[in-house]
Amino acid sequence: MPRLTYLGHAAFTVEGSKARIVIDPFLSGNPLATASPEQVEVDYVLLTHGHGDHLGDGIEIARANKATIVAPNELAIYCAGKGAQTHPMHIGGAFQFPFGRVKLTIAHHGSVAPDGTYTGNPCGFLITMDGKTLYHPGDTGLFYDMKLIGQMNKIDLALLPIGDNFTMGIEDAVMAADFLQARMYIPMHFKTFEVIDVEPGEFVNKVKAKGQKAQVLPIGASLEY
Ligand code: NI
Ligand code: MN
Repeated sequence: MPRLTYLGHAAFTVEGSKARIVIDPFLSGNPLATASPEQVEVDYVLLTHGHGDHLGDGIEIARANKATIVAPNELAIYCAGKGAQTHPMHIGGAFQFPFGRVKLTIAHHGSVAPDGTYTGNPCGFLITMDGKTLYHPGDTGLFYDMKLIGQMNKIDLALLPIGDNFTMGIEDAVMAADFLQARMYIPMHFKTFEVIDVEPGEFVNKVKAKGQKAQVLPIGASLEY
C-alpha cells in the first residue's frame, strides 16, 4: 500500500514499492511546514502549476536528488531551464512511469512562476501506484467533469483544496466529493494564509454526513491507503 505523508498546504510525499514522489513541495516559504527541503528524498517531483506555493522548492529538491520533475509542458520547460531533469506532460495525457501511472487532469486556475514567467495551464494528477489511485486536483474551482473523473477512475484517496478564495471552498469541496465518489478524502490548501483560514473539521463532518469517509491529516502525519 502506498504511504502518503502531509507536508502542509498542497504538499505530500507518496512512497510506493518502486519509488518515492513529492507533489507541490512548498516548504521553505511555508511557516506551517515542519519538514525542510533537504529532508525530502524522492525519485520524482510532481508539480501542478507554477505558483510559488506549489512550485515551492521543487527545482532545488529535484536537483539535489537527481529526481525527475513531472509537470505540464510549459512548467517543465521552465524547470529544465533551471537545470532540473524533466518529463513534460499535458492535460488528458497519461504515462506509465516505473513507479506507476500518472494522468494529468484539468484544473480551473492560473499558472505563473514567481519570477513572472508564464507556465501554461495548471493541472491535477491521477496517480496510480501499487494498484491504488490517488487524486491530487491541484488548485482548482469545482468543475462538473469531476463526475467523469470519478466515473472513469476508482479513486482510493482524493486530496481536496478547501481554503476558498483561491480554490474551492468547503461547500464546493463537499460537492466535489459527491462527484468523485472516492474511498477517502483529505482536505488541503487551508490555513497557510489568512485568506484561506477555514476549519478542515467542518469539511470532514459535511462529507461524513453524506455517507463518505474523510479525515484531517495533520502536517507531518502519514497514512497508508
Ligand atoms: Ni495556485
Ligand atoms: Mn495555491
